[in-house]
Amino acid sequence: MSESRKSNKDILQAPRGMRDFYGENFNLKKNFYTQAEAIAERYGFMGMETPIMEHTEIFHKGVGAGTDIVDKEMYTLETAGGDHLTLRPEGTAAIVRSYIENGMGSLPQPVSVYYSGPFFRHEKPQKGRYRQFYQFGLEIMGSKNSFHDVLTIQTGYEIVKTSGKNIIVGINTLGSNKERQKYIEILRAFYTENIDQIAKSDQRRIQSNPLRILDSKEISTKKLNKKAPILMDSLSEESKEYFQTVLTGLDALDIHYEVMPSLVRGLDYYEHTVFEYIIRDTEGNNSHALGGGGRYDGLAEMIGHNSSIPAVGLALGVDRILEVSNKDVFEKINKRLVSCISLSEKAHAKMITIASNNNLPTINFHLGLSDSKLGKQLSKAEQLNAHFALILGDDELEKNVILLKNLENQEQREISIDDIGKELEL
Ligand code: HAM
Repeated sequence: MSESRKSNKDILQAPRGMRDFYGENFNLKKNFYTQAEAIAERYGFMGMETPIMEHTEIFHKGVGAGTDIVDKEMYTLETAGGDHLTLRPEGTAAIVRSYIENGMGSLPQPVSVYYSGPFFRHEKPQKGRYRQFYQFGLEIMGSKNSFHDVLTIQTGYEIVKTSGKNIIVGINTLGSNKERQKYIEILRAFYTENIDQIAKSDQRRIQSNPLRILDSKEISTKKLNKKAPILMDSLSEESKEYFQTVLTGLDALDIHYEVMPSLVRGLDYYEHTVFEYIIRDTEGNNSHALGGGGRYDGLAEMIGHNSSIPAVGLALGVDRILEVSNKDVFEKINKRLVSCISLSEKAHAKMITIASNNNLPTINFHLGLSDSKLGKQLSKAEQLNAHFALILGDDELEKNVILLKNLENQEQREISIDDIGKELEL
């Protein structure tokens, strides 16, 4: 192993673009997952987990060489055994690998799953963009039905709406793989002809991925894009109809969407429907996407399966959703904290028994188990933002009672130890 050249100061910091979660941040993320899982389960999705690494080829073949993710952003390592593994930059290719490996094709179709956890992309860190970030994803595998596109969009919409923000769904169709390839050739010819009007940073994409030039942020490219050929013109009637049934479904559900012809997404596996959840800032500019997804009927074959598995899905950016949310949206389901102050060894033991006997769905106990003075322990309870304190000394123990103090209004009462559950559950 090569010796690290980092100073102690450097190594005592988390790697760039990666963060610690504790206290409020940890709770907000956890509560977001709890709400998102409840919504997904209500729509019939089941939880699933895959390893944090996959064979590098899964992402090369699935996400695609020529995409930023594969070309620039993957954390890849060679194991002692000589395997090349990559920390997952996204979830879909891994979920499809698992569907194939575990023979999920023989289960009743479609198979609808949700997943969550950390993902890794070596991007330039900034607000809303991290190297270790968190996604909540949904995938419906084994269905060509356009109403599964609608169901995916609706489920994600309901989850992002918990942020309390005004969300619009940007949506587009890429047509079938064949139609998309035809369009890519038309686009490549157009950009080659107008290469002098394209920003330098976009020029290399003419060969590798001309679709990505369509959503360039460069001013000169944006100007040229207004004249670019439109994908819709290369689509068959069948593909246009498919897209129309998705839009009709969204209308029926009152989902606020906007058709955006330049929305192409940054991964290669998409066909037909693609979409993103977008919030606008006060000036009407689109900010980072809170999530996105689409249909990926060809992905299973891309990663080496012998037949296609029609599928649709999305991933939500948990970091971004939490950043734009009103904090109290996710604080609401925080449990109330009860600070347990016991003032002798006998009382410490009894306090642990009290916590173990009172498994209350809305209460967490913080056990002080400390020898410090009551006043000091009460001010610690205030610092912890506890709602109540339970105070137990030898005198109380003898009478099988305990003091219950409401830390919001400072009212204090003596109650029977047997009534703690009843008193706190109110
Ligand atoms: P994606 O658009 O690459 O799609 O990522 C989904 C969401 O993850 C983005 O909209 C964004 O909110 C969040 N995200 C991506 N990169 C970062 C980052 N560096 N820092 C913070 N947040 C980030 C996918 O990953 C596809 N697998 C979605 C999908 C599922 N398509 C079909 N099924």
